[in-house]
Amino acid sequence: MKMVIKAAICATVFATVSAPAMAADYPFADEIEARQGYFQVLKFNIGVLGAMAKGKRDYDAELAQTMANNLKNASLMNNQMMWPKGSDMDAEGLSGKTKAKAAIWQEGSEIGQMNKDFAAAADTMAANAGQGIDALREAIGPLGKSCKSCHEKYRAK
Ligand code: HEC
Repeated sequence: MKMVIKAAICATVFATVSAPAMAADYPFADEIEARQGYFQVLKFNIGVLGAMAKGKRDYDAELAQTMANNLKNASLMNNQMMWPKGSDMDAEGLSGKTKAKAAIWQEGSEIGQMNKDFAAAADTMAANAGQGIDALREAIGPLGKSCKSCHEKYRAK
């Protein structure tokens, strides 16, 4: 009896763990999900800073510093593995799975520089965020712009 229950529990756990992996059945699914998850983390952290900047949330130096540090640390990650050539929105099987434009991988691509611009803006935010609401507000514009510039060029609407 004990054995049967154990086996049943194992089967349930296995099914739960393996289900998402099986659902994502398209080329470069792991890489695409990872980079989209990475961007969701950026969005979450900048969202808190943006809410403070707009006065929708009380300024809290410690929290602002934490979110800014998260953005800075994220900007220092080496995410090269998440961007394999051929994982763009026009590639076979990827329609609706990714919004990454093929131009990212084409000659003359500025995505590397734009990522550096984001890292620089995140660095400034990390220096400013804990120093008062005015300092935070000063840094939020360039940081938001660094996201937007890259999206305008390399992410489909
Ligand atoms: C260097 C270019 C670049 C920078 C900088 C950048 N992004 Fe993106 N972002 C992209 C690309 C390309 C995609 C599309 C990824 C895909 O669908 O595979 C994307 C997708 C996203 C998504 C959608 C993720 C999903 O679930 O599909 C969010 C949200 C996002 N970015 C937020 C941000 C925020 C916030 C910042 C700045 C703090 C930022 N991004 C900076 C290029 C960039």
